[in-house]
Amino acid sequence: MKISLIPAPEKIVCKSGFTGNETEIKIRYDNAIPPEGFVMDINGEITLKASSDAGLFYARGALEQIKFQCGKNLPNVHIEDSPRFSHRSFMLDSCRHFISVSDIKRMITYCAKLRFNVFHWHLTDDQGWRMEMDCRRELINTGSVRKGNHFGAEQNDKIHSGYYTKEQMREIIAFAHEKHMQVIPEFDMPGHASALLKSIPELACCGKKVEIKTKPGIFKDIICAGNEKTYETLFLILDEICEIFTDEYIHLGGDEAPKPQWQNCPDCQKRMADEGLKNENELQGWFINRIADYLAGKGKKVITWNESLKGGNLAENITVQMWMDPKRLSKNCPNRIINSDFFHYYADYPYAMTPLKKVYCYDPQINENVIGVDTPIWTEYIENRKQMEYMCFPRFIATAQTAWSKSKPPYAVFKKEVSELMPYFGIKYAAASDEWDPKAYKRLPGIIRHFGSVSPYEKARKIFTKKNRQETN
Ligand code: ACM
Ligand code: ZN
Repeated sequence: MKISLIPAPEKIVCKSGFTGNETEIKIRYDNAIPPEGFVMDINGEITLKASSDAGLFYARGALEQIKFQCGKNLPNVHIEDSPRFSHRSFMLDSCRHFISVSDIKRMITYCAKLRFNVFHWHLTDDQGWRMEMDCRRELINTGSVRKGNHFGAEQNDKIHSGYYTKEQMREIIAFAHEKHMQVIPEFDMPGHASALLKSIPELACCGKKVEIKTKPGIFKDIICAGNEKTYETLFLILDEICEIFTDEYIHLGGDEAPKPQWQNCPDCQKRMADEGLKNENELQGWFINRIADYLAGKGKKVITWNESLKGGNLAENITVQMWMDPKRLSKNCPNRIINSDFFHYYADYPYAMTPLKKVYCYDPQINENVIGVDTPIWTEYIENRKQMEYMCFPRFIATAQTAWSKSKPPYAVFKKEVSELMPYFGIKYAAASDEWDPKAYKRLPGIIRHFGSVSPYEKARKIFTKKNRQETN
């Protein structure tokens, strides 16, 4: 009997004979096995070997998939497996639309079965601040409440609010840790900061009054990099974030931060002069470096989106998450890279634009500095569990396979295996198989429909991405 496993294993040797599915499982630790890797032998006995608990967790998952397919009699088999990338991540945006604790846990459960080992949690943005903080209670009293929703088809002036208590964040982290998944909080700065600036107005350039945004988009309101009060406040907030989030990384955002306010702010301009910085992109590099230095003192490493590279002065020990601008990253960039390529891994875009095959066939190893992948789902147009599962699955499954497996079976094989194993993954609202790869004549109308219904945001993003491409040419 042929066994299908997702993600596809490195080595699988089928043997003759069968073993009962209730045979006792023997566990062995073996330091020669790579981190997170495992060896499974079904041969009259069932033996799982690994050098780590994570490896054993993945071995048990693979065994569950075999039991699911084979029922009472498991075909004898020898499997050796270990991951291609050490960083296998998915991102949820809790800011544009709040995601309940139970929905987050469900996503973690699905993703752990796919051997994602990082949950990147986007918790602050222009449309809401979602983390309970004691040092500045305004962040939740003011920052977590938005007066209106103007996102594509959703147009209303209803209050949208929500934040995670510290207890809830710890509960989610513990839940992820049980599944060998780290949790990386993203505190987006200096841009995407309207909720913070509405809550703590003195951190805006020139005392500008900032409102929490009810629309999607890229906004000029960014945190003042000249004012010393900025650093005092951000460090206090980060102290609290580090108490809750105990894993090694903090994500500092850094994406889509237009600079007109920095250009017109005497404090920001003085900072540039004092630090010998030639332009505002260098100021962003300096700003992220300063926060990263502070966090390094607390034993934390930092990730930033690729825009922070534009000044050319980003510290080499900061990991860069690439969503755009791959050329800049291939030009002798020394930083470690997480690949989140917009055209392949953004699960909030329709299948018409990013079909399953396109995700599956993409090779994220754009150079040797890539340590892994992160597939985001931004929630401007995702309001509930059903929409989220539909957009993410099976595309997250394709990303997981690319992240884990060193060699992939042909796409047709993968597609068949996904169809067969979907009930094992238990994803209730995954897209149906005839929607995964829309025919060519349906793709253009599908893309137009999507961009038409979300036009203001997309216009901004299209301009931005065009500009980005021009800059790299
Ligand atoms: C991003 O999509 N703004 C990282
Ligand atoms: Zn300023």
